[in-house]
Amino acid sequence: MNIRQQLNDIFQTAMTAAGIPAECSPSVAPAKKAGFGDYQANGAMAAAKKVGTNPRELAAKIVENLDKGDMIEKVEIAGPGFINIHLSDTWLGKALAAAHADEHLNIASVEEPQTIVLDYSAPNLAKEMHVGHLRSTIIGDALARLLEFQGHRVIRQNHMGDWGTQFGMLLAHLSDQIQKEDAAVALADLEVFYREAKVRFDEEEGFADRAREYVVKLQGGDPECLKLWQQFIDISISHSEEIYDKLNVTLKREDVYGESRYNDDLPVLVQELLDRGIAVEDQGAIVVFLEEMADKEGNPSPMIIRKKGGGYLYATTDLAGIRYRANQLKADRIVIVVDARQSLHLQQAFTTARKAGFLPESVTLEHCAFGTMMGEDGKPFKTRTGGTVKLAALLDEAVERATALVAEKNPDLSQEERELIGRVVGIGAVKYADLSKTRTNDYVFNWDSMLAFEGNTAPYLQYAYTRVRSIFRRAGVDPSDLKSEIILGTDAERTLAIKLNQFSEVLEQVARDTFPHVLCTYLYDLASAYMAFYEACPVLKEGVSEEEKLSRLQLCDLVARTLATGLDLLGIEVLEQM
Ligand code: ARG
Repeated sequence: MNIRQQLNDIFQTAMTAAGIPAECSPSVAPAKKAGFGDYQANGAMAAAKKVGTNPRELAAKIVENLDKGDMIEKVEIAGPGFINIHLSDTWLGKALAAAHADEHLNIASVEEPQTIVLDYSAPNLAKEMHVGHLRSTIIGDALARLLEFQGHRVIRQNHMGDWGTQFGMLLAHLSDQIQKEDAAVALADLEVFYREAKVRFDEEEGFADRAREYVVKLQGGDPECLKLWQQFIDISISHSEEIYDKLNVTLKREDVYGESRYNDDLPVLVQELLDRGIAVEDQGAIVVFLEEMADKEGNPSPMIIRKKGGGYLYATTDLAGIRYRANQLKADRIVIVVDARQSLHLQQAFTTARKAGFLPESVTLEHCAFGTMMGEDGKPFKTRTGGTVKLAALLDEAVERATALVAEKNPDLSQEERELIGRVVGIGAVKYADLSKTRTNDYVFNWDSMLAFEGNTAPYLQYAYTRVRSIFRRAGVDPSDLKSEIILGTDAERTLAIKLNQFSEVLEQVARDTFPHVLCTYLYDLASAYMAFYEACPVLKEGVSEEEKLSRLQLCDLVARTLATGLDLLGIEVLEQM
């Protein structure tokens, strides 16, 4: 249990003893400013309103009934009825020693593990992956790692766009190309391939008809056609996998559960919604009209689930996906990581799924939305000539830039070291730059700021980690041998101790709200608290007592391990030396 939760429990007990009704919460939170204790209980004001008494007096009554145990050193009442909580140094030291001795930093697994379906990455296989899929991939992967670390059962679902009418044109073109060359060669660059097919579709006599025939054959399950399609899909998935590899993303081939997997269910689903009167026919199409989402004039929000010609849509597949995940995969929680511009679509799908009872009430549906990656010009990120930026090229550039920077900073590195550090720093920088921004906002992509060794960046944190680790090399100490008491003699040590103890609190917050930037901010604050500690508290210098040295070394080790664990949960690597 984290500090916040523990304090909350202690204060809840005190409130009950003070005769306050159970629905009043103590509202314990970390103190916002220095000088107001370590934590604060802010619930007395709301409780006083509820029972109709003076908040300061009620705060005093809570304090009278408080069992401080060995955790709380002292409390004081401030302002209209805030209770400032000072934690005991001995207790904090013991908590840290326990974390130090535990492989998992003493972070307990959740008491009630959930089955969580995370839908992320989801590129469209007809085309090369581009920067638009970067955000979904890395935000989703960070959440997957974190939820797993907490003990949840995470099911990754890569909802790839592997179906649709555009495949008619692509397969017609592919069937011609493989007369001349290997399929892998023909599909080496999906952008080029797509463009060629499109030109033929628009200009070549008879080609468009063939493309349409392919669509019909594909939908009819024609074996030859399916084989061709499978070939296309396999090669395209390999392209994505190269990127996942480069990005250090945990998605595997078995996590691919593309749109095509729902094909057979689409007619069944539409019929069911029709039979139950949830969907109706409208000008030849099948539509769900959602009164729940009506506009100001009262017009219901329409969601088409079958087109006039009989074709199914993105929305139909998402409905089938929700039903499958809740009923077959037994999800307790479904999180879809996709662009904020798809909000209306997902809201409609969620509302329809609820209305149709496709999932138990208890299952939560979440759209983990993110903003657009912008260029320096404030417009969506594009190449200089206005094309979409290919992810592979972007990542190569990141590694190249980082390698050059590293070589400049440290000319003595061997070629091999330089390449390793360049890769870890370059990829880390791209990922961290994205994860550290509030995901719902648009953000500007900027090489210089993401690769800076100062500020809230991956290189800064990676470098902070290696600096801490270098202390152990200098001291010739194996941190796992350290077992002495942790003494918090100075303010800098105390501040650091409290930060370290807050790691599990932060993880819980991110798991609940799915905002990874909260973890980034925490790691950055931790690194800053460490720098302040390192300035104020010599570790290996002469004049430091043995007791102090061993205590401080343990703090150093906890910082290193917390940084490494936190970065790993974000999908970012660290190095022993850089
Ligand atoms: N393939 C879609 C796109 O590129 C993203 C799919 C996200 N997942 C979902 N269940 N809709 O925009």
